[in-house]
Amino acid sequence: MRQFFPVEDLARDDRFVQTNMAERLADKRTDIDVRKSSAKSRGASNRIAPDRRDASAAARSLMHGIMVGEIQALEGAGRTAHDFEAGDGSGDTIPFELKLDMARQAWDEARHVEISAKLSDWMGTEIGEFAENTVLFEAACSNDPVLRLAGVNRALEGLAIDVFTQMKEFGQLAGDPYLEFCEDWMLADEVTHVKMGSDWLRKVTEKDPDRRAKALEFQQIVDKLFSFGGARSESEESPIGLARRFRELAGFTDDEVDTISKMDHDALEERKAALRVAHEAAGV
Ligand SMILES: [Fe+2]
Ligand SMILES: [Fe+2]
Repeated sequence: MRQFFPVEDLARDDRFVQTNMAERLADKRTDIDVRKSSAKSRGASNRIAPDRRDASAAARSLMHGIMVGEIQALEGAGRTAHDFEAGDGSGDTIPFELKLDMARQAWDEARHVEISAKLSDWMGTEIGEFAENTVLFEAACSNDPVLRLAGVNRALEGLAIDVFTQMKEFGQLAGDPYLEFCEDWMLADEVTHVKMGSDWLRKVTEKDPDRRAKALEFQQIVDKLFSFGGARSESEESPIGLARRFRELAGFTDDEVDTISKMDHDALEERKAALRVAHEAAGV
């Protein structure tokens, strides 16, 4: 079987529309950012909640994003289990137990794809109604398996922990037990996936500080790419919160969570400053 599969060759039928990050942020339907309803204008919070004017579109867009993310997570974990020979973790090899963990993760993600597709349908969304951002799989294409663990398992599945926590709360507030329970079960799996990433990254790079530093740097780049201009942060002004406790359970140190929190905060402030300038220029 072929190794190292490029993103262009992912198998999708003609319902799917793929896009990159820049296009996605400009897509008005992916409305989970801070532009449309500021916390100030709504009073208390800007979290995705049923009382938001754009709640339906925001929740459906996010759910579709979760579904395509699950497909790519399945593809990425499957590739990592297959692309590298079993060995001691040096060079192009990965420990056999890491392959087993990736295979187990692929099994979990396949289940998540089914659950997310059914939830999307339940929420009234058709496959392909929103664009598919392929950044997750791209982060799973590195030639260094440790970078895949940092970029996918820690950065992007860390984000999944935050998103699932928010969607679980949305389901609870909306009185939708299907959404609430499904998100809770998937969240439990994601915590184990992030923990796998944390544990294996530390273990494989135990005697190679340069490789570890490079992986953590890549993780920060991916985290920053997905800070969405402050769409996720500990501030109530952001639609998605930072799930601090679940991140701790997934092997993030307090310092690491603080770093992500600061990056999110800066991204939010940057976005707000840019909005102020735009509003002033428009005379509103
Ligand atoms: Fe998943
Ligand atoms: Fe996962």
